[in-house]
Amino acid sequence: MASTRDVDLNASVGAAIRGEFPIFETATYLNSCSQGALSHRVRDAVETWLAGWDANGAEWDFWVERNEAFREAIARLLHAEVDDVAVTTSVSQGVSALVSALDLAGERNRIVISEYEFPTIGQIAHAQELRGAEVVHVRPDSDGSIPPERFAEAIDERTALVCCTTLSYRSGHRHDVAAIAEAAHAAGALVLADSYQACGAVELDVRSLGADAVTGGTVKYLLGTAGLGYMWVRPEVRARLLPTQTGWFADEDIFAMSIADYSPHASARRFDSGTPPVPSLYAAVGGLSLVAEAGVPTIEEHVQALATRLLDGLDELGAAAVTPREPERRGPLVCVRSTDVGALVAALAAERIIASSREDKLRVALHLYNVAEDVDTLLDALRRQRPLLA
Ligand SMILES: Cc1ncc(COP(=O)(O)O)c(C=O)c1O
Repeated sequence: MASTRDVDLNASVGAAIRGEFPIFETATYLNSCSQGALSHRVRDAVETWLAGWDANGAEWDFWVERNEAFREAIARLLHAEVDDVAVTTSVSQGVSALVSALDLAGERNRIVISEYEFPTIGQIAHAQELRGAEVVHVRPDSDGSIPPERFAEAIDERTALVCCTTLSYRSGHRHDVAAIAEAAHAAGALVLADSYQACGAVELDVRSLGADAVTGGTVKYLLGTAGLGYMWVRPEVRARLLPTQTGWFADEDIFAMSIADYSPHASARRFDSGTPPVPSLYAAVGGLSLVAEAGVPTIEEHVQALATRLLDGLDELGAAAVTPREPERRGPLVCVRSTDVGALVAALAAERIIASSREDKLRVALHLYNVAEDVDTLLDALRRQRPLLA
């Protein structure tokens, strides 16, 4: 007999929610690390935006309401205050605004980045070399992990910012952000945790995560679409951060319409930029509501169980998974080495199993709508494609 807990779990994830996502009628979808599956709810939300445009033209008040509804939903998800959340058009925009607020011309000019940062973080960091920055890379140990000690070795009183992605988009490793933040804060440095590959599938609480800025977007585990992101900024550090990359939505009063000065908002809105991406806001509020109803702790438990099933199956195949076995060191993404990953992704796609790749690794992303049969379908296909696994 199912326990009460099983019943609760089944009520909001897996088979119980799958009907909301039409793609599963024709595919085994394992690519949420690239794009979350489209739901009926998100489609309806986007159609509401189109209908409003048709009926009324510019629905300015409604757009502002959606912008704030998104900010509030992110605040709830991250256990944060609404005033500490910026609405951004991408991780790139938010991080560029953040970095533009750093004084990199003096002694404290170093940006430390992990080897697992998404390209945009590395590229923004290196762009600051034009403003006097020095970039220090922290590389993984031979087992693929980057323990906090490696960061501590790279951090000193010259460090302005430490970038430690919460979960690697290319290996599935999870960083110990709290321990890294402790080392950074001891040296007076700020910490940025790009959490795009975790948020929505891993419970994140900014009160315990330890970072000073937490960012991500809506395309993946938040079940929305492109053009929209968020950045939480610790209120204690915000006052001394004045972004020089900015826009009128970051002003203390967007209706002042002044071209005579720069007056950034007192809240994290100072990291917003121009007119928000309205269709993406509608989609994101819909997608986030599905995540919130399921509950991230429940999603995380579900996803961890599926990842364990997958890793066990990969072991049986004698495959080389690079993602750690310990649940606390991984999340929804499992990566496994291939001898020809392009051919492997194509062979899986031919069977309507949708996954992705980075470097020589197959990436398998698990989310609230996946079920054990998805993992078994993939493992059966991988057994047939065994020569393509390293
Ligand atoms: C970890 C991570 N950071 C950032 C991005 C992209 O950020 P942006 O919103 O700037 O496109 C991605 C994926 O596209 C990602 O996986």
